[in-house]
Amino acid sequence: MAEHETHEFDVIVIGAGGAGLRAAIEAQAQGARTAIICKSLLGKAHTVMAEGGVAAALGTVYSEDNWEVHFRDTMRGGKMLNNWRMARIHAQEAPERVLELEDWGALFDRTEEGRILQRDFGGHRYARLAHVGDRTGLEMIRILQQKAVAMDIDVFMETTIVRLLKDGDRIAGAFGYRRESGKFVEFKSPAVVLATGGVGKAYKVTSNSWEYTGDGHALGLWAGADLIDMEFVQFHPTGMVWPPSVMGILVTEGVRGDGGILRNGSDERFMFGYIPEMFRAETADDEEEADRWYTDRKGARRPPDLLPRDEVARAIVAEIKEGRGTPHGGVYLDIASRRDPEYITRRLPGMYHQFKELADVDITKEPMEVGPTCHYMMGGLKVDAETAAATVDGLFAAGEVAGGMHGANRLGGNSLSDLLVFGCRAGRGAADYARAVDVRPEASANQTEEVAREALEPFERTDGENPYLLQQRLQDKMQALVGIIRVEDELKKGLDALGELKQRAGRVTAEGNRLYNPGWHLALDLRSLLATSEAIALAALERKESRGAQTREDFPQTDPELGKINIVLRMKNGEPYVDRSPLEPLPQDLRSVVERSL
Ligand code: FUM
Repeated sequence: MAEHETHEFDVIVIGAGGAGLRAAIEAQAQGARTAIICKSLLGKAHTVMAEGGVAAALGTVYSEDNWEVHFRDTMRGGKMLNNWRMARIHAQEAPERVLELEDWGALFDRTEEGRILQRDFGGHRYARLAHVGDRTGLEMIRILQQKAVAMDIDVFMETTIVRLLKDGDRIAGAFGYRRESGKFVEFKSPAVVLATGGVGKAYKVTSNSWEYTGDGHALGLWAGADLIDMEFVQFHPTGMVWPPSVMGILVTEGVRGDGGILRNGSDERFMFGYIPEMFRAETADDEEEADRWYTDRKGARRPPDLLPRDEVARAIVAEIKEGRGTPHGGVYLDIASRRDPEYITRRLPGMYHQFKELADVDITKEPMEVGPTCHYMMGGLKVDAETAAATVDGLFAAGEVAGGMHGANRLGGNSLSDLLVFGCRAGRGAADYARAVDVRPEASANQTEEVAREALEPFERTDGENPYLLQQRLQDKMQALVGIIRVEDELKKGLDALGELKQRAGRVTAEGNRLYNPGWHLALDLRSLLATSEAIALAALERKESRGAQTREDFPQTDPELGKINIVLRMKNGEPYVDRSPLEPLPQDLRSVVERSL
């Protein structure tokens, strides 16, 4: 029996970003003995990379806004592939969840009348993002963390889960290791909430930090859960492109929401050339009209710089490919010529310091150079909209690791509201489930034994593969072959490369011992990175159309038949298997809401 510590809870939450914290708060409030397990230090989460705001139809700036308009925008942004039940719950409950945060101490920026100030973002009809300068995610984490600590929720920091445990078909807990000591730890729990975020570290250019290796997606898949929409990877249009050491770091959409515009290397406002049919009626198609919107926009059409992210990212890639990029291979994002310095430093203090310190660019005087960066996974575990239950008993998922809510493309700001709404629902769903369990599930000793043995294998090899080189190759291949623009031949090459990397990862070596050993940690992370990347590539190959974040050069049109299905990934005989499942049709009353032109 591998030596390990054991803990017992009613609900464990894996991941401590906004979704994990909100889930744990709710589970504990429902009376479940709850623990949070996180790979990093508490408070260090990708949630902080949602800088510009949390989307909620509060109507504090535009009283015309309401949940129906938010629902409509979300469905259109997601190219109608969203789980409409989730999109409806999200739009209806987001205001309550945001106001609750305020009750807990969040300090949102205010209007002159003292109401919550809301900012414009792409694809949202009205200014709808409650924000704290350009550090909204950070403020949310601060508040949620404070609340979780005050509620005395157990927190296991720097602990990585490598496998979910099962008793027959039911979840029985999770097994992992303490990063500092390298010692194994078992969590016995009938209910597990996955809130692990995404898989940005599978790509070379990303806004994600080292923790985001697709852990929850892989844990769910290996435990028998269905993944949906894995082909939809969001490339945020604006990441830093220069200097190379900071490439990919996020430049908030708030810059464009607050008046910034995009220009190519020839100084043209190129977005006017990329307005898709679906958004033509509501998008300004000349500079004068677009500029008027920034000052007096009641009823006016939105500037194309604020189209949904998939549209803007694609346009930027096209400009660069056509040779109209900037010297460092991006495009310009200019707020300096449009807003005075006081406004810029007050509204966007984080961006001001980021560019000054990392790139020696003063954004109050010069334009920024930006380009797309891998930011978010729309795909994830298939969940029930009401309870966030996944397709395995006892397993729940919330936030980025859950699929369905955002369809083929997420609108900016909707991730923060998603994690609050569905984090809360997942916590409640898990607590209710745990309460109803009469015989607690128990994982066999064989299971933990096997997981521990596999985890230690890298120490037994002497001249195997280097985990860092394997990750680098993975990132190169995913960026080049499974990136923003996709084509069958390249996707197949990508899958071949992933197959080869899987073999090589089976021979990976860890030097030294188990005490804080990042090489060993990466050797273990490679398994989830590869499993999740393979799911992305398989789903991208299967969806033979262009929709939202999936752009197929060989299938440039949207196929109405494929708009009725989700691509599903699940394990079959130890290998990932691609399936399809029909989307639940949108009821007529909601269809009219979506089709309404405003
Ligand atoms: O641009 C941003 O501030 C990111 C927001 C988001 O991803 O929701």
